Amino acid sequence: MKELSVSHLLGIKYLQPDDLHLIFETADQFKEVINRPIKKVPSLRDITIANLFFENSTRTKLSFELAEKRLSADVINFSAGQSSVKKGESLIDTVNNILAMKVDMIVMRHPNPGAAHFLAKHIDAKIINAGDGTHEHPSQALLDAYSLREKFGDLAGRRIVIVGDILHSRVALSNIFALQMLGAEVRLCAPLSLIPKHIESLGVGVETDLRRALRWCDAANMLRVQNERMQLSYFPSTREYAMQYGLNAKVLEELGKEIVILHPGPINRGVELSSEVADSPQAIILDQVENGVAIRMAIIYLLASKLQA
Ligand code: NCD
Repeated sequence: MKELSVSHLLGIKYLQPDDLHLIFETADQFKEVINRPIKKVPSLRDITIANLFFENSTRTKLSFELAEKRLSADVINFSAGQSSVKKGESLIDTVNNILAMKVDMIVMRHPNPGAAHFLAKHIDAKIINAGDGTHEHPSQALLDAYSLREKFGDLAGRRIVIVGDILHSRVALSNIFALQMLGAEVRLCAPLSLIPKHIESLGVGVETDLRRALRWCDAANMLRVQNERMQLSYFPSTREYAMQYGLNAKVLEELGKEIVILHPGPINRGVELSSEVADSPQAIILDQVENGVAIRMAIIYLLASKLQA
């Protein structure tokens, strides 16, 4: 059986192109499973997975939990807000206590970049990074690339623009790594205040004009402005941001060609996307959500097979 080159999913940066292809092929099979009347396989009946969420989440948390249940794993959930973390317990103590309950795999979202790496070094369980601060969000990038692959087939030579708050976005960095690994060309589009310094060193182009960026691309991944991570103002007002960087029906009409639109959610309707665009057939936002379950089943299944080895 083919296997992943890594023992944990900490970031796309640590994967090889073959890992991405293996995850996609495995997800193809699971996508077929979750569209059957009986959406479950008994593959992971002997595995226990803990979902540790130290930061808010709706989609990612539900998607991982559903993926685990579809694989018949035992699942425990932990949200920092209701836990002893509030009483001052350290991350390692919290996690060691959970591991003492014989947990095999941990899915963790944490506000600190590097938190998943830290766990992987100190803990004897498979770790999946479900978003570490502004750093990486590998399962999101995999489901984004998988959804694009469904639309375009091979991504080699395809042009993808990532629009919006690149500076604070873990989705952006993981997407850049994944798309480039698959041979796509990537450009970023945002006000310069939301573009990290030296980002060109990753081999991406930078464009501040949305219309120009859209004319260049085959698909646009529209990111949310991460207000919760901003201590400063990065643009004059939300209204001005929406006027310059928001995608609405008029902008799309003027473009005169059809592009694919992605969004990781949650959407700020009327800011990065108008409702009309978000709900249009060009937007594959709900496909991304559906594919998210299949991709996460694939990740968990492939990491679990290393556990038993
Ligand atoms: C993203 C995240 O949490 O990084 N959302 C998600 O995982 N679906 C993007 C965002 O919060 O804007």
